Amino acid sequence: MNRLRLIKFVLFLAALLPLGRLGWKALHGGLGANPIEVITHSTGDWTLILVLTTLSITPLRQLTRQYWLIGLRRMIGLFAFFYGTLHFLTYIVLDKFFDVHEMLKDIGKRPFITVGFSAFVLMIPLALTSTASSIRRLGGKNWQRLHRLIYLTAILGVVHYLWLVKADKRKPLEYGAVLAVLLLYRVVIWASERRKRSAIRVTPRNSAEATEA
Ligand code: HEM
Repeated sequence: MNRLRLIKFVLFLAALLPLGRLGWKALHGGLGANPIEVITHSTGDWTLILVLTTLSITPLRQLTRQYWLIGLRRMIGLFAFFYGTLHFLTYIVLDKFFDVHEMLKDIGKRPFITVGFSAFVLMIPLALTSTASSIRRLGGKNWQRLHRLIYLTAILGVVHYLWLVKADKRKPLEYGAVLAVLLLYRVVIWASERRKRSAIRVTPRNSAEATEA
């Protein structure tokens, strides 16, 4: 229990490092000629990295049998939302200076903004229902169903990145490959559980009849 607390504390500090690095660079003139671009790219990158990390907890804990890892998932997911919020705020405040007209124009002209915005909006209910009391209120099954939205957020996040990059698509494709593996893992597990369930449904009597037929 204490070990988990310590790991969570270290993870908390580690998750703040990208923000600290940006702050340090900002204070020491290290953000280059286009600071808004650097902040947008860094916060966008970390949002996607943390969404994918959240999705990797389940396979990791099942494959390594380190079941305690589930205790870290909520914090990582909330940090994904935190960086997503910073990314969004960078766009609204620093890039567009709250100019709603300019933002609407941008949405029409640049579909990757619409996709990024959708990915972010889908994260809001996940962050709002991340508490234990929300799980109790919604019921485990409903909560799980709602939290499948993270898959859509991840897919839209990768599409957002793919669409905004004009020339070298290697990095978004790498994120896409990681996401494909994480989704494939779930499909394989889901298919094998379905097979097991239908095997249980075939009782010995049914199977004897089936063999005779
Ligand atoms: C809230 C809505 C969002 C807006 C308005 C937005 C806007 C932007 C903009 C303007 C850029 C820079 C584009 C350029 O350089 O031409 C960007 C980059 C990026 N965004 Fe978003 N975004 C949003 C949500 C998201 C979300 C939810 C994710 C992840 C799940 C994400 C991941 C990224 C990534 C990975 C990059 C590229 C970073 C890099 O170049 O290294 N964005 N976004």
